Amino acid sequence: MDKSWWKGAVIYQIYPRSFKDGNQDGIGDLDGITEELDYIRDLGVDAIWLSPIFRSPMKDFGYDISDYREIDPLFGTMADFDRLLEAAHERGIKVILDQVYNHTSDQHPWFKESCSSKDNPKADWYVWVDGEKGTPPNNWLSYFGGEAWEWVETRKQYYLHLFVKEQPDLNWRHHEVRKQVMQSIKFWLDKGVDGFRFDVVNLFYKDDRLRDNPVKYPEEPIAFNRHYHLYTRDRPETEGAVEEIRELMDFYDDRVSIGEVATELGQAQYFAYTRPNRLNLAFNFDFKELRPFAAKTYTEHVKLNESVFRDFAWPSYVLGNHDSKRFLSKLGEGEDALRKAKVLAALLLTLRGTPFIYYGEEIGMREAEIPYEKIVDPQGKNLWPKNVGRDGCRTPMQWNSGLYAGFSRTEPWLPIGGDVQEVNVERQKADPASMLQYYKQLIRIRKASDALRFGRLEFLETKEEALMAFFRIGESERNLVLLNFGDRAIGLNLEDFGVKTWRYLGGTTSHPVGFSGLSLSLEPYEAAILETN
Ligand code: GLC
Ligand code: CA
Repeated sequence: MDKSWWKGAVIYQIYPRSFKDGNQDGIGDLDGITEELDYIRDLGVDAIWLSPIFRSPMKDFGYDISDYREIDPLFGTMADFDRLLEAAHERGIKVILDQVYNHTSDQHPWFKESCSSKDNPKADWYVWVDGEKGTPPNNWLSYFGGEAWEWVETRKQYYLHLFVKEQPDLNWRHHEVRKQVMQSIKFWLDKGVDGFRFDVVNLFYKDDRLRDNPVKYPEEPIAFNRHYHLYTRDRPETEGAVEEIRELMDFYDDRVSIGEVATELGQAQYFAYTRPNRLNLAFNFDFKELRPFAAKTYTEHVKLNESVFRDFAWPSYVLGNHDSKRFLSKLGEGEDALRKAKVLAALLLTLRGTPFIYYGEEIGMREAEIPYEKIVDPQGKNLWPKNVGRDGCRTPMQWNSGLYAGFSRTEPWLPIGGDVQEVNVERQKADPASMLQYYKQLIRIRKASDALRFGRLEFLETKEEALMAFFRIGESERNLVLLNFGDRAIGLNLEDFGVKTWRYLGGTTSHPVGFSGLSLSLEPYEAAILETN
């Protein structure tokens, strides 16, 4: 089989504002990341994905870009970036950049020019529509609340913004726009970055007839209601755009393309963007929403995913990111939440598919509570209190229990999480039972096993309702993963699964390594990874 690096990789997402502050102004930056590359290497991940670092007025914290080829001064300079890239590569860590081409910032020179008149050379680079002031062209809504249309007096027209009004949507139907995007991608490929994460890749094209979205259930959260978005995403023309990106990237060796597909339609949609000539990966976000915490829920999801992807495309899994509540906090409070989080971490890191870890998950960072006055995320500001926004999952990485968690010596842009005394890197490095050591162990086990990285996945049927059990089968080795989703111990006879010999590789408790009896008792919420005949 094809063993491209990104299939076997563990990818670590860094939110640059919040990882490490190199110049002590309270905001994380590139030098900060460079300082911590040894930490990242020791964690064992293969690649880092940086949320946007490009020049930006920061209305959406970097997802509003005003120059695709410059580093924002808050994060550093191009020389700092080059140093980061080189230092990462020296350590065998690949670097993936975020690319945001659904929209630019309203401060991008393209938009300023486009705004200036109806007949300038860039007049059609954005989605402009005639209308009457006060009566938007249709019912499309912004993901961040309110109408998706903004009136501009100079043109006496509306422009489209699916996010904040400072994020005007590009007109992908204009050939020059498409060309510019390809050239910008090429710029970073030529610099030697290892791949990209494409922001909201399924929104690039909107309905050419601007048909109203069938808004039907206004009480549901906007982001996950397809009736709000039927005509503003997944238009057939997007396929061509994605294929063109892939074609360009295939001129370069060993690069990865990852799509953020904003959908509640699940696997079929992720798959659509990762078919053979399209992107290499699309985040599967479904774990973020799966409830309840039960073996059956996850087993069914993974089975379905496997049946959709088969050998045609490569799956991926995500527990959290910069857009959603920290996954640990979705599991409740106290010790049980930590145990459940460990079960999910083991699942993430043993499945067939590329796992993504969001910074801080490896030390068990929780969602921080941000008082209303401290909210800076436009989503939270606009939709509060229904939606408190995303600041709570973007708080500074907790390096130690000192001032500002060792993130900075200056008061950071967001508060430090309340759990910093327990939840910090320094403390967990010294504690063999910590979340950090657990993640390291899981990553180490995955890395050492061809079966876990590339092998087939085969579920085992069991009568134990709380048990999720599967084999990962490689060319010459076999791993058995046992996950107890329940709060009661489970006694197993491994012979029932056709296992004759086994060796314990690791997990939440410490069965003697190398033990090879045939019966095994799984503790409540235990995760165990075995090597078997
Ligand atoms: C994506 C990003 C999110 C951003 C939005 C607009 O969903 O992950 O953070 O606000 O796109 O670019
Ligand atoms: Ca800084």
